Amino acid sequence: VAEVKGGADEGLGRVGQSLSVMGWVRTLRSQSSVTFIEINDGSCLSNLQCVMNPNAEGYDQVEAGSVLTGASVSVQGTGTKQKVELKVHKIILVGKCDSSYPIQKKRVSREFLRTKAHLRPRTNSFSAVMWLELGILWRMLHTSSFKKVDLSGWQALLSLRPIVKALENSSVSPLSSPAPMRPQILLIDAIPKTKGGTSLGVLDRLWATQWRNLCNRSLRCKTLLSRVVTSENSNTSRHLAEFWMIEPELAFADLDDDMACATAYLQYVVKYVLDNCKEDMEFFDTWIEKGITHRLSDVVEKEFLQLSYTDAIELLLKANKEFEFPVKWGLDLQSEHERYITEEAFEGRPVIIRDYPKEIKAFYMRENDDGKTVAAMDMLVPRVGELIGGSQREERLEVLEARLDELKLDKESYWWYLDLRRYGSVPHAGFGLGFERLVQFATGIDNIRDVIPFPRSPGSADF
Ligand code: 4AD
Ligand code: MG
Repeated sequence: VAEVKGGADEGLGRVGQSLSVMGWVRTLRSQSSVTFIEINDGSCLSNLQCVMNPNAEGYDQVEAGSVLTGASVSVQGTGTKQKVELKVHKIILVGKCDSSYPIQKKRVSREFLRTKAHLRPRTNSFSAVMWLELGILWRMLHTSSFKKVDLSGWQALLSLRPIVKALENSSVSPLSSPAPMRPQILLIDAIPKTKGGTSLGVLDRLWATQWRNLCNRSLRCKTLLSRVVTSENSNTSRHLAEFWMIEPELAFADLDDDMACATAYLQYVVKYVLDNCKEDMEFFDTWIEKGITHRLSDVVEKEFLQLSYTDAIELLLKANKEFEFPVKWGLDLQSEHERYITEEAFEGRPVIIRDYPKEIKAFYMRENDDGKTVAAMDMLVPRVGELIGGSQREERLEVLEARLDELKLDKESYWWYLDLRRYGSVPHAGFGLGFERLVQFATGIDNIRDVIPFPRSPGSADF
């Protein structure tokens, strides 16, 4: 259908050309002797209108009577002057569909479609989400094609691969294992050093080239696409029990580098989506009520705001608003606070909050000179709240050991992590971007369960 739509006759389809299309029947409507069937083949959002006139010359009415909405068909005909239309000569029923097919023409709610997760890719709404996801992932991940690079410097990384794999496949909840050896923590030092220098080797060059375009400076970086499984019991419209996280880790980088990289990353993706997924974005603009504060173009055009956690608390205290979770210094910001900041206080602009109290952040985050806060940052966007969470990591062995002691964590089980600080430690930072939240933000769809094919959330491992 995409091909017919983009035909040679200035968008009028392939007039007079003989065509054969296979797809699924979206709608069926009869008008006197003519039947109109709209077919979608999954190649784009447009349907192909098929006009069936039994009195027309050359019409071969094979099985047309048994074609119902949802059936799969093969249609042969010629293009007409109408946009995306086919004058049918022959229709063959490939797979019949009876009248119990749940996705009939009338618009159905997203909640309902969630109960039909196996069929919802046949709707425009869900296909548009998937096209967008493919657009984003293709751009981001194609650089990690390692086939053509020299792998000689990779031994160190390869030897860690089984550990990362084991973690990924582990049936043990990451939260209940004694020392969660998150791949993120391994990354920075897993990258092999070349003889006598600080260069991080093949992988570094590969990514540095990519990142230089984004960050205007050579950051040594490696990105994981992590499948994250969590036992955190958060039953909200922005939490899943299993999701994808894009996790870059940067060597020789501080929190400012981290924030610059996260900003460039988001701007790059949004620009890509605006430039290359136009049909899908028009669809979302038409059908999704985003509210005036949700302008994707702001991400590309406006500067991101930066605010310290302490200033954010001040701002929330001054807000004339009843929050469910009362505001005070030390509070772990909730979605309601994050959304107030980005949507109301700053009218839809992305905001980065930095320097959080160390008590509410992970042990590996780098302690600031005030002794109370750590060099952590969260990027907040409208609708979603926290889209990215990251930090500069603690590279000082003694400070890290002291922190483990303070938290009564067993240093023995962190031997490997401390070793990394003991042998050639470097300042480093990284962040995690929730892929489904990114799609939620880009599309404006308000429940995260509606941007993933088979959502897993607390209490629903199946669909
Ligand atoms: O802030 P989080 O928990 O950060 C980390 O896990 C770090 N280890 C990442 C890093 O520094 N490499 O999560 C990062 C992002 C969040 O901002 C959010 O977008 C997404 O991951 N996320 C979730 N998305 C869906 N469902 C959940 N339960 C999520 N938890 C986090
Ligand atoms: Mg977080």
